Amino acid sequence: MKLFDVYPLFDIEIVKGKGCHVWDTNGTEYLDLYGGHAVISVGHSHPTYVKAISDQVSKLGFYSNSVINSLQQKLADRLGKASGYDDYALFLINSGAEANENALKLASFHNGKKRVLAFQHSFHGRTSAAVRVTDNPRIIAPVNEGLDVTYLPLNDPFAVEAELRKGGVSSVIIEGIQGVGGIQLPTDEFMRDLRTLCTKYEAVLILDEIQSGYGRSGKFFAHQYAGIRPDIITVAKGIANGFPMGAVLISPMFKPSYGMLGTTFGGNHLACAAAIAVLDIMESEHLVDNAKQVGDYLIRELLELPGIKEIRGRGLMIGIEFEDSIKEIRSRLLFDEKVFTGVAGMHTIRLLPPLCLTMDEAAEFIARFKRVLP
Ligand SMILES: Cc1ncc(COP(=O)(O)O)c(C=O)c1O
Repeated sequence: MKLFDVYPLFDIEIVKGKGCHVWDTNGTEYLDLYGGHAVISVGHSHPTYVKAISDQVSKLGFYSNSVINSLQQKLADRLGKASGYDDYALFLINSGAEANENALKLASFHNGKKRVLAFQHSFHGRTSAAVRVTDNPRIIAPVNEGLDVTYLPLNDPFAVEAELRKGGVSSVIIEGIQGVGGIQLPTDEFMRDLRTLCTKYEAVLILDEIQSGYGRSGKFFAHQYAGIRPDIITVAKGIANGFPMGAVLISPMFKPSYGMLGTTFGGNHLACAAAIAVLDIMESEHLVDNAKQVGDYLIRELLELPGIKEIRGRGLMIGIEFEDSIKEIRSRLLFDEKVFTGVAGMHTIRLLPPLCLTMDEAAEFIARFKRVLP
C-alpha cells in the first residue's frame, strides 16, 4: 500500500531528539526552531516526560470514558491553575481541529444560533466546521460548505459590529495570534472590543490558542496580553508535547448534559500522563517566562538585521517577513546551516521552537541565520 500523497516532504528522516535538537538517519544534528510545527513545548525527549509516559503505559494505556479516569481531573486542576482559568471546565479530545469543532458546536447548542464570524487569513483545522471557518477555499470541500460563515478583516471592530448587528451570530472565532496566516497579531484593543461586542450581541467568543497558547507567546495564552476572558478557549499542539491531544476550556455559563459532547480516545490515560508531565516541566523550568525572555532577545536581534521587511510576534512565535520569496533562505537554513524553521506563505519564515530554547541556542540561530541572508 502507498501513502496518500498529501505532504510535500523534505528528503530528511528525523529519528532522534533532545531538547531543541534533532538528528536524522545519517546522524546529522539540527537546531530545531520549528518544534515539529509548534508542538514540542518542553523539548524533545525530556526525561520527566519520557518517564511519565513510560510509567503510565506500563500500568494502563487506555480505558474508556465510561469509567472514572482521575488523571483527567488532575490535569484539569493543574491546567486551571497554570492558565488562570480554574473556574472553567475542561473537555478533552485529540487534536486542534476537534477542539474547534466542539467549541463551535457548544456555542451553537448554547445559544441556538447558526452563523459564525471568522477572520481573513484564519486557520482553524480541517474537520467539517473547523475547516469552514478557515479562510482558505482550497481546503473547503463542498460537504463543508453548509455552515454560514463570514470572514472579516482583523483589527476592524466596526466590520465585526456591522455583522453582529444583522443577527443570528452564534460565535466569533479568532486565533490568539494568527499562525498559518503569517504571525499576524490582533491588537489588544481589538481583542477588548471583540469581548465587549460578543457580550453585547450574545455571541460566544472562541479563542483559538492552539498555536499561540500554552506559554508560546510569553503568557500562558496570547489573549491574556489584552486582559480579556473569552467564553471558550481551544488548545492542542504543545499541550502534550507531541502526544496527540486537544482541549476545550469552557466558561461556567455553559451547562453540560450527558451525551452533548463525546469521544472515544479523548482524555485517555497516556495523553493525560503526557499533559500533566508537560505542566510539571513548564512550571519547574519556568518555560512561560523563558519563552518571553528568549523571544524578546530573538526579536531584538532580528530587528538589527538588514534586508528584512517586518518582524512580528510575541514570545517564541515569531514571523520574519521578506519582500522576496523565502524559499532559498529556508532551504539554505535547513541544508547548509542545519536549522529547522517553519513558513507561512511565500514570504514569511515562522519560528516556533520548543519553549526551552536557551539564550545560547537563540544566539546560535541568529549567527546561522545571518549567514543565509541575501
Ligand atoms: C491556530 C490553529 N488552529 C487549529 C489547528 C488545527 O490543529 P490540528 O492540526 O491539531 O487539528 C492549527 C494547526 O496548525 C492551528 O495552528
